[in-house]
Amino acid sequence: MKEATLVIIKPDGLKKSLTGNILTRLSETKLKIIGAKTVKVDKELAYEHYQHLKDERFFPELIKYITGELHHDNRVMALVYWGEDAILKVREVAGATNPEEAEPISIRGAYGRILTIGLYENVIHASSSKEEAEREIKLWFTPKEVVYELYPIGEVEVENYKLEVWK
Ligand code: CDP
Ligand code: MG
Repeated sequence: MKEATLVIIKPDGLKKSLTGNILTRLSETKLKIIGAKTVKVDKELAYEHYQHLKDERFFPELIKYITGELHHDNRVMALVYWGEDAILKVREVAGATNPEEAEPISIRGAYGRILTIGLYENVIHASSSKEEAEREIKLWFTPKEVVYELYPIGEVEVENYKLEVWK
């Protein structure tokens, strides 16, 4: 079944100039890019994105990681991929969460590392289920920033100006 998935090239990926390599590896999936942008991640977005991990011991470091505090570089690149079994295909190319356990030829296996503080610095994020993908794409992208109409779109009126929002 065709589906969408969110990929985030994390601050270590940008800092190490790995964007090109990562996009090349992801292109092996033959999926379509239907949304792409560079984002400055603030604490609010970071907390919302990783809300399900808030009770983990590594959560404070994870927030420092995704907001760029660890790398002194607060850019990430957010992408939406679309196609047959997109979620699984991207997770396969990404590799396991722990870079030491990831296949050496996977993105995380090739470019990830474990910091001495114990955090997995694993270069990319990839949605792990359809529900997660929908929640994350709606969080990171506005309807106009995605080429396909993935989810129902509504309108809100702000000072006579109509704004498109995710319903
Ligand atoms: O990113 P993924 O879905 O593979 O894993 P997750 O369980 O959703 O965790 C989100 C992120 O937290 C990971 O990608 C790692 O950067 C970090 N993490 C960690 O540092 N140590 C762990 N034991 C688990 C996750
Ligand atoms: Mg996850």
